[in-house]
Amino acid sequence: MLNFGSRMDAIQAPIIAVVGDLIRQTPGTISLGQGVVHYGPPAAAMDAAREALSNRDTHGYQDGAGNRALIVAIEEKLLRDNGIDRRNGLGVMVTAGGNMAFVHAILAITNPGDEVILPVPFYFNHEMAIQMVDCTAVLVATDDQYQLDLDAIRRAMTPRTRAIVTVTPNNPTGAVFPEAALRAVNELCRERGVFHISDEVYEYFTYGSTPHVSPGAFAGAQDHTISLFSLSKAYGFAGWRIGYMVYPERLNDAIAKVQDTVLVCPPVISQIAAVAAMAVGPAYCRQHLAAFADVRDIVMAELRALEPLCTVPPADGAFYCFLRVNAEADPMRTTERLIREHGVAVVPGHAFGVTRGCYFRVAYGALQKATVAEGIGRLVMGLRAILES
Ligand SMILES: Cc1ncc(COP(=O)(O)O)c(C=O)c1O
Repeated sequence: MLNFGSRMDAIQAPIIAVVGDLIRQTPGTISLGQGVVHYGPPAAAMDAAREALSNRDTHGYQDGAGNRALIVAIEEKLLRDNGIDRRNGLGVMVTAGGNMAFVHAILAITNPGDEVILPVPFYFNHEMAIQMVDCTAVLVATDDQYQLDLDAIRRAMTPRTRAIVTVTPNNPTGAVFPEAALRAVNELCRERGVFHISDEVYEYFTYGSTPHVSPGAFAGAQDHTISLFSLSKAYGFAGWRIGYMVYPERLNDAIAKVQDTVLVCPPVISQIAAVAAMAVGPAYCRQHLAAFADVRDIVMAELRALEPLCTVPPADGAFYCFLRVNAEADPMRTTERLIREHGVAVVPGHAFGVTRGCYFRVAYGALQKATVAEGIGRLVMGLRAILES
């Protein structure tokens, strides 16, 4: 009899698949679950991909770090949008999405038993990746607005700490971290000789007065900052699997080893499409931002009507908010009831590391305004019915 146990047994099951199964069992459910946008790639990207199909070179392996044309487009974008100059001793690697870039980073900078600090609520795939490589995710609470608590982060550091992770704009909370907080984290990392891993896959999605800031642009940050980006959200590219990472050049060998083993080279056709998408530029997603902001206003206003039963802290970025229920309720059981009895799906907070209390992530990027309004209506009615019964 083979022993099927493995390191994966200790890792949480991907929550989106669990919620997805429940949704499939309840036709007509409106999903405020998955964090995707409602639009696809720019037409120019699809045209470029179509044209590239007849080029035999696209059928073979190409450069491991990414094709020259895409790397150049990324370098220009980093300078223009992020203030990051690759010539300051930085490496750039194209990956199959931002998730892979995170795994590359963790594999490149840790030994088994090392610790990585994750502010909570965290993005679940970050915790999963850290645990898969036999490291420990050290969970540090944020404040009641889901903002970083620098003292708590400082207290959580030990000689085994290898990195602090920040995600801004944030999944799952929609919080945007101000420059001062990011500078403080980046400076702490520099002082203690650990890496700052900055996940910026929602970089263009901000609606309030706090702009997005890239820690990799801070003076003196280049030696210890790893910045992660993705085309999945900005360019509707989730299925094309293109992300990229920027890192201190001394990690080149380690990251190249991971890339060669896991991916060999990024998908060639997707890279050609990505070059065309990046030529269209961030104006492509910015044209949708006003509509996202409108939807966000509806979501926040409707959910705030649930106070004092629930609280919704500010959510000025990405396309999420993270609802706190001020009553006794089991998050998974409530999620199931919302789907089965009220036809609306959200993701329970425990998937994001919040194990005390009842929280839900509400995602509003995948749907048009009318559908989101209907979904939020169902959520509000459903929560009232379940929590007040
Ligand atoms: C914070 C964060 N990082 C990374 C990703 C992964 O994106 P992808 O692998 O599609 O680039 C996501 C996707 O939802 C995310 O929310």
